[in-house]
Amino acid sequence: MTETWDTIAVWYAEQLRTGSAMHEFSRDILLDCLPKTLAGQQVLDLGCGEGIITRALAARGARALGIDPFPRMIEQAQAATKNGPSGARYAVDDGCTLATVATGSVDWVTAGLSLNNVPDLSAALTAVRRVLVPGGRLVFTIPHPCFEAPHATWTAAAQGRPRRVVGDYHVEGFWRSDNPQGVRRAGNQHRMLSTYLTTLVGHGFLIEATAEPTPSAQVAAEQPQRAALPPFFLVRASSKK
Ligand SMILES: C[S@@+](CC[C@H](N)C(=O)[O-])C[C@H]1O[C@@H](n2cnc3c(N)ncnc32)[C@H](O)[C@@H]1O
Repeated sequence: MTETWDTIAVWYAEQLRTGSAMHEFSRDILLDCLPKTLAGQQVLDLGCGEGIITRALAARGARALGIDPFPRMIEQAQAATKNGPSGARYAVDDGCTLATVATGSVDWVTAGLSLNNVPDLSAALTAVRRVLVPGGRLVFTIPHPCFEAPHATWTAAAQGRPRRVVGDYHVEGFWRSDNPQGVRRAGNQHRMLSTYLTTLVGHGFLIEATAEPTPSAQVAAEQPQRAALPPFFLVRASSKK
């Protein structure tokens, strides 16, 4: 069977419910770029999945809306909220259009590991810019494209640790992992780092911060081979007034 985010939604939600160090790390570095309190702020979580980031935004007081185009993913997010009402709301919507979100209605957009899934980055950034208030901000993480390029593997241990093997960095587009237990068996879009940055600038965003954080202690303990590489690239950008 060809997997999609819809077909793996239940599996994905279960991974996060039982604790995924990588997803918790991605959430935490993204949240570090946001104010500690978001009371009164409208925050859109683009590609919310089962809601790990949306719930955290609501816990900071935001009026948090999570959107995802895959109905089963939204069902998982709504089910997680039912276990303890978080105040987060969810809707089925495509990040490339954000058709359910009013123009100029959002103070912050978060996108945790989701812009690398939208098929049209330019359309998504057009939609994000439309829904943000002037001066509103976009904060996103993506798998670091330099190290998580299509079909990247590991060598045998060298100097005590396996090394990342990366090829085909310049070949942009959809690819699917062969790992039957991997998240990216649902497929995702590879884009060069420069493509993300130039597309952002071309859509009227000012890049305020970028980061390539060292893996958390928990990620490094679970996957020691990753200790010396940044698994994610993070950007905070503001929409020009
Ligand atoms: C790796 S998951 C991340 C989910 C969540 N943000 C998290 O941190 O766990 C990628 C998400 O992107 C979503 N996605 C795929 N295509 C999308 C699109 N066109 N617009 C918005 N989200 C999309 C998937 O359904 C999936 O929930």
